[in-house]
Amino acid sequence: MAFAEYPVQSLMYITNRPELVFTEGKGSWLTDHNGKRYLDFVQGWAVNCLGHSSQVMIDALTAQAGKLLNPSPAFYNEPMLRLARQLTDHSCFDKVFFANSGAEANEGAIKLARKWGRKHKGGAYEIITMDHSFHGRTLATMSASGKAGWDTLFAPQVPGFPKADLNDLASVEKLITDKTVAIMLEPVQGEGGVIPATREFMQGLRKLADQHKLLFIVDEVQTGCGRCGTLFAYELSGVEPDIMTLGKGIGGGVPLAALLCKAEVASFEAGDQGGTYNGNPLMTAVGSAVIGELTKPGFLQGVQEKAAYLSEQLLALSAEFGLGGERGEGLLRALVLNKDIGPQLVEEAREMQPEGLLLNAPRPSLLRFMPALNVTREEIDQMIGMLRTLLKKLA
Ligand SMILES: Cc1ncc(COP(=O)(O)O)c(C=O)c1O
Repeated sequence: MAFAEYPVQSLMYITNRPELVFTEGKGSWLTDHNGKRYLDFVQGWAVNCLGHSSQVMIDALTAQAGKLLNPSPAFYNEPMLRLARQLTDHSCFDKVFFANSGAEANEGAIKLARKWGRKHKGGAYEIITMDHSFHGRTLATMSASGKAGWDTLFAPQVPGFPKADLNDLASVEKLITDKTVAIMLEPVQGEGGVIPATREFMQGLRKLADQHKLLFIVDEVQTGCGRCGTLFAYELSGVEPDIMTLGKGIGGGVPLAALLCKAEVASFEAGDQGGTYNGNPLMTAVGSAVIGELTKPGFLQGVQEKAAYLSEQLLALSAEFGLGGERGEGLLRALVLNKDIGPQLVEEAREMQPEGLLLNAPRPSLLRFMPALNVTREEIDQMIGMLRTLLKKLA
């Protein structure tokens, strides 16, 4: 079917989309309406951790679809319980609440911290967040985010989110008052440009939180579920947060997210939190299959090996073209271009023939790489080869 025949005008405008319609996906490859194939190093923005339409997910989805879809969030179901147990077994947390998106999980974290503040800290409600952070697109999570321009977009904001600078402990300490209940950050700022929080900063935040009786919240919507080479990125800094949120990779492509906390922080009372689809067996069955794969012996080791290889190849490319190096954790990496050619590269990569390449530029001078966690070395080589062709053309 020709692109012009698709009823694209029926969709509400929210962003500029290229004139192609994806019809199929398998592993690291997507196919569009013309049958052209694309090597996908975006994977739905770090969502499809097992690649497109992995067999493990198809099996879990089809088996559960024929069994039970949604008995109501007010009842227990087996996949919900199984996944909750997998998450508490493999993390430092004791309690799980399931949500449908990263933003919703973060809303839950904000509500949980405020509830805890009301119960245990004299009504403290402010959550210190980081400049350039990204926590979602609901009103509270937009207010928590430190994205430029978001303080006035859809004003008035939800109050109570003073901003500190990532990796600057003094900037956090300066904002602590009697009203402060928590500190919240992404272990690696993803949308902000793949900027890791240093281990010292994470450890310093844990100490500050303990000194001032604050909750330490990590938003692992992008960094969690194996993306950074460990199951959760907080493990890299040897600290234990009080609250963690997950999204993206936990569902491997289906809408699933989670809010986790330590037992002593779980302070919701009946009616405080919930939602029609929360913990539904269809999505949690898929999440359970995904976490089952990620925790198989050797899987995360494989992610670390692929990450080291990708990092090495990006560094070589940077040296070859005089770029600014690369950074990241695990398979969440960025190539620093030093010039604002990111958007042009993204477009030209997509339009390459006979096969296209999908990349992302969270900032104009940066390319971000979020391949499937089971990406092969051959696919990394192919991506690097295609990128080299484009950089040569631009040079
Ligand atoms: C760190 C982080 N938090 C929250 C979100 C929001 O997740 P969702 O788009 O599922 O609401 C994102 C999405 O990019 C994210 O990267």
